[in-house]
Amino acid sequence: MESAVEYWTARAWLEWQVELGADEAMLDAPLDRYALDPEPARPAPGPRADAVAQPRKAPPPPPEPAPAIDAPTEAARLAAPAKTVDDLAEALAAFDLCELKKGARNFVFADGNPAARVMIIGEAPGRDEDLEGRPFVGRAGQLLDRMFAAIDMARDHPSSQQGLYITNVMPWRPPSNRTPDAAEIAMMLPFLTRHVEIVAPDVIVLMGNTPCQALLGRTGITRMRGTWAEAFGKPVLPMFHPAYLLRTPAAKREAWADLLALQARLREMS
Ligand code: URA
Repeated sequence: MESAVEYWTARAWLEWQVELGADEAMLDAPLDRYALDPEPARPAPGPRADAVAQPRKAPPPPPEPAPAIDAPTEAARLAAPAKTVDDLAEALAAFDLCELKKGARNFVFADGNPAARVMIIGEAPGRDEDLEGRPFVGRAGQLLDRMFAAIDMARDHPSSQQGLYITNVMPWRPPSNRTPDAAEIAMMLPFLTRHVEIVAPDVIVLMGNTPCQALLGRTGITRMRGTWAEAFGKPVLPMFHPAYLLRTPAAKREAWADLLALQARLREMS
């Protein structure tokens, strides 16, 4: 029987091998590599198989580009089935083709009494509206509330006679409060049209140039204000935007005349 190597002897051998540079355990027995089969012959140098001309395969056709979605058409498709303001808010909130949505904190749809005889349409949310998710809540909005209070109307009034319903052309705040451009207005128009159809107000008030562009196809509020027009078969009154009135208090005189004209028209119609 082979005698086991003593621990200290085995350890001395091991240390000696480590000193010689052995750093890896190999085989128990030495291996005569000269006795092994020679390496298989390498192929003679020549052109690489993959360099030899192959019959060319036609490249696969490029994928069909996704058909470009026309934003106003898509907006009309989403808006059409809405039966209530809640349906419409849901459809508009789901509309992803307006870049302004990405930069906005909140979706600002509407406020007030949807049964009101008067629907006010502004431009787009500003900073305060974007933070709160409600239209016309900043300084301009507070002035708007005071203006209408002077003719006994309020957004929170429960009657249709004295209530107000307020919305904007654009439900997302544009960067640096810039004016929505023509393409942005065009893609909102189907939603705005459906909004007016659902709310069915007696009269629409347009605050400033942007809603005039959207509903009447023209701007020039200084000339247009106070002159009744028609959109969607409804009487429409352009007025100075309250933000303009904050900057130009002298124009409040004209705004007051327009409010009285609105009041008179509502009386005539009832
Ligand atoms: N200006 C608007 O036109 N709409 C708002 O909601 C606030 C400021």
